[in-house]
Amino acid sequence: MRLFLDTANLEHIRHGVKLGIISGVTTNPSLVSREGKVDYRTLVQEICSVVPGPVSTEVLSLDAPGMIAEAREIAKWADNIAVKIPASLAGIEATSQLSKENINVNFTLCFSLNQAIMAAEAGATYISPFVGRLDDIGEDGMQLVTDIVEYLEYYQLPSQVIAASIRHSQHCMAAARAGAHIATVPYKILLQLIQHPLSDIGIKRFADDWEKVMGKQKITTTGT
Ligand code: E4P
Repeated sequence: MRLFLDTANLEHIRHGVKLGIISGVTTNPSLVSREGKVDYRTLVQEICSVVPGPVSTEVLSLDAPGMIAEAREIAKWADNIAVKIPASLAGIEATSQLSKENINVNFTLCFSLNQAIMAAEAGATYISPFVGRLDDIGEDGMQLVTDIVEYLEYYQLPSQVIAASIRHSQHCMAAARAGAHIATVPYKILLQLIQHPLSDIGIKRFADDWEKVMGKQKITTTGT
């Protein structure tokens, strides 16, 4: 499973890319607005120049012609743009048209298998089920990821599933078990993924055992 960062914060994106494990970024209007009043295009282009893979950037229009016009414009901003189109009838119409034009669509705000079936038929490159928001209303968000993955595999459809609205590190492991192609994680959760108390205890014990016998002796390239 590939990892994307779910943020518009350049510092966090640079760190994720430096770790060598982030192959894409997802943004949305709420995430962009957290960065203050910025020039949308400039920020997205800067993110695109840092990230080695797709950067999802959402349209703001609610009608199909508006979404299509915005998506065509956004797609020109960089080679690695995926345009986020929301789950609505207008969004399906826009996705169908944009996929014919080879513009990568990330079908976002997906909350049901029916929506995913329509998105796959419309040619969406990515489908983003929002796990955490479904859990918030007492539904099983990860079951939706499982259902969409199984559906796409059964019919051998090329859309990829991005497990989105990830709220904690358990969600990330569950997304991998469910067969999601990608999980898009907030920066705070990315940092948590590596954490395990036994790793910390083990690292300290090795260092202590070494120091007891070897003192401050270091491993050097000169052999001294
Ligand atoms: C993904 O593409 C979305 O930007 C994001 O995961 C939404 O997460 P939230 O439900 O925590 O806002």
